[in-house]
Amino acid sequence: MILNTELEYKGNLFPSNIIDYKKDVDVLHFSTSNNIILQLTVLRDSVLRFRYTTVGKFNKDFSYAIDEKASRGYNHLEISDDKEKYIITTSKLICHIFKTDLRKSIFDAKDNTIICEDELGFHWEESYELGGDIVKMSKAAQNGESYYGLGDKPNHLNLKGKRFENWATDSYAYGKDTDPIYKAIPFYTGLHNNKSYGIFFDNTFKTYFDFCQERRNVTSFWAQGGEMNYYFIYGPKMQDVVTSYTDLTGTPELPPLWALGYHQCKWSYYPESNVKEVTAKFRELKIPCDAIYLDIDYMEGFRCFTWSKDYFPNPKRMVKELADDGFKTVVIIDPGIKIDMDYDVFREGLEKDYFCKRADGPYMKGKVWPGECYFPDFTRPEVRAWWAGLFKELIEEIGVKGVWNDMNEPAVMDVPGKTFPSDVRHDYDGNPCSHQKAHNIYGMQMARATYHGLKKFNYPKRPFVITRSAYSGTQRYTSTWMGDNVATWEHLQIANIQAQRLALSGFSFAGSDIGGFAEQPNGELYARWIQLGVFHPFCRTHSSGDHGDQEPWAFDEEITNVVRKFIEIRYQLLPYLYTSFYQYSQDNVPMLKSLVLFDQEDSQTHYRTDEFICGNQLLICPINEPNAKGRRMYIPKGDWYNFWTNNMVSGGKETWVDADIDSMPIFIKAGAIIPKYPVQQYVGEKIIEELTLDVYYKNGKEDSELYEDADDGYDYTKGRYSLKKFNLAGSDDKLIIRIHKRGKYVTSYNTFKINLIGLPFKVKSIKVDNEYVDLKDVKFNGDNSLIISKEFTNLQIKG
Ligand code: GLC
Repeated sequence: MILNTELEYKGNLFPSNIIDYKKDVDVLHFSTSNNIILQLTVLRDSVLRFRYTTVGKFNKDFSYAIDEKASRGYNHLEISDDKEKYIITTSKLICHIFKTDLRKSIFDAKDNTIICEDELGFHWEESYELGGDIVKMSKAAQNGESYYGLGDKPNHLNLKGKRFENWATDSYAYGKDTDPIYKAIPFYTGLHNNKSYGIFFDNTFKTYFDFCQERRNVTSFWAQGGEMNYYFIYGPKMQDVVTSYTDLTGTPELPPLWALGYHQCKWSYYPESNVKEVTAKFRELKIPCDAIYLDIDYMEGFRCFTWSKDYFPNPKRMVKELADDGFKTVVIIDPGIKIDMDYDVFREGLEKDYFCKRADGPYMKGKVWPGECYFPDFTRPEVRAWWAGLFKELIEEIGVKGVWNDMNEPAVMDVPGKTFPSDVRHDYDGNPCSHQKAHNIYGMQMARATYHGLKKFNYPKRPFVITRSAYSGTQRYTSTWMGDNVATWEHLQIANIQAQRLALSGFSFAGSDIGGFAEQPNGELYARWIQLGVFHPFCRTHSSGDHGDQEPWAFDEEITNVVRKFIEIRYQLLPYLYTSFYQYSQDNVPMLKSLVLFDQEDSQTHYRTDEFICGNQLLICPINEPNAKGRRMYIPKGDWYNFWTNNMVSGGKETWVDADIDSMPIFIKAGAIIPKYPVQQYVGEKIIEELTLDVYYKNGKEDSELYEDADDGYDYTKGRYSLKKFNLAGSDDKLIIRIHKRGKYVTSYNTFKINLIGLPFKVKSIKVDNEYVDLKDVKFNGDNSLIISKEFTNLQIKG
């Protein structure tokens, strides 16, 4: 491993003085006397890209991370210089570039305060081993600065004081400080003086980030090769930093609604009769479930795209029978293709020359579940197209609805490093390179190819893919999980942090193996984990199966009832979760918000880890310990209703919240309007005949949204969706709700059931669209719920 040699100046090389400056529309070039060029691109008023070369010339500009739909364009750009520096001014930022050494300082254009400044700035070390440079950047840490992001790190949410490595790694039973694990997401957010910015280091080599560990006042990042190429993203609100990064690297299209239901998985459910037993039990016990997973044992000798004839003699019939009962079948597909001349996928890959090769020509041979395998080079467009085509039978013929990509770091067994050796060659979409550069995006390109296969063969329905490994931008194609965690209380806490961290790293559609993959939880731990898991965008129980069963009924009846109760809450909240997915997909808003993201002004939030906001208005805090009857938690500023009692608490303080095993701390933001479905055993079981809106009174204003469409398919892209924006305004004796509607989708229900919660007055009159309504006519129930037409645009309730 190459360590940062920042302290030993020996070996480090630095830019010298600027001798030339050129401007090409929004791209500025600064050249130094020692042949360094800094290319600064003004992408937006708040987004600058910095790219450096040490050889006087740039390689072709290519990135797997950047979304082609990313926004570009600024309102204002002005460049000037004085004796010591160039000054680049946009409507949001001022960037100084020093003439003597190419260092930079970035200021907020509004108040001229410093946001981020180079310490040593760009420097490098020549890499004897690989050729090229070890490229480095160091920044001065500001007073009280905190750091967040970096994808799936199983560590404290605030990264300050720690050093991390990004190198996708198969990490069975990882622990709290294991680093790296499965993903490489080189994006972080800094926060100081109520100003937040982000840095996305788009370099796919092994990268390192040091947040004031090596030196108390310095943050640095570096890579073993490639370019110093990073994006600087300004907020000053952290939420704007995250949405800008997500805009840059993209969001997924909407998933089918069933994918937001509950999923059941195990390594492995087989044979068919076992799968049927499990699914029948869900229906018998009335525990909602939408997806059942088949792990590697469904295949013939672990050969991808085959079915074991003994265990699954007629997969098409089975998948159909499962579908008739509301279950979508999801199957695992790994990258390793078994070396076997009688196996058509292998033969075809060999004939077409689609497998990865070592530097001098032999195939990359490695052991995975099927024994010795070759591995497709997913960085070649024609290999991705071939791979996508392999899904035809599974999806179109057999009716499988989702695919689970695993082992795609890529994982190789029984070898040092547990992956490909570094000399393996990749096409990298026409930019041939070694595995050093392609390793971190291998899993991403596999998931991308899988996604395109599913999209094609499942059309006009929407695809569903899940991946283990990922690089920035992978969220465009697939959901993800956190890999092989362990059934311990500590891991419940880790899962919570990882889901929040991924969301603030642009990857919201994520969840953990509920209950833990390795080892077995007791009933209490499983129940507490389900309580957390139902508030994660992806909600699946999975376990290795070697230590006993992990279905909702595997413990005792009390636990089964708790699990059912919480999965039912998730199914009731489906329209809320779906709306939050829409906001993520459309507006780049993370589906989970750590408290620091929710309220960065409140410094109490900067080191909180357990509490988070699901969507925009639900405050969640899991119970992380055994035998708890409740816990202390921090309630963010503002007024919140306890979900169970409807009592209101004012935030900005820590408080004790009761939560016996059948409960957990859940609060709703005052003023929120939460849409709810009836409980269903699976998405689409019932035609929704009435939508419930839980309206939480607030003395003041609050906005909420409700997005709906056909729950699958692409009609929504043609305007057939329904988006309702609710503006709530409450005062001592009045509550007004206005709705603004958009879209052409006609919902199946005609009425809303409105539950008025926390009204401080007794209702005397109700006006709908400016007409008084007889209280009897609107079925005002006395329990503060009323039923009115979904067409209303203005509801006034007076005391
Ligand atoms: C890996 C995966 C796990 C899966 C197992 C067998 O360990 O992370 O989820 O069950 O392989 O396929």
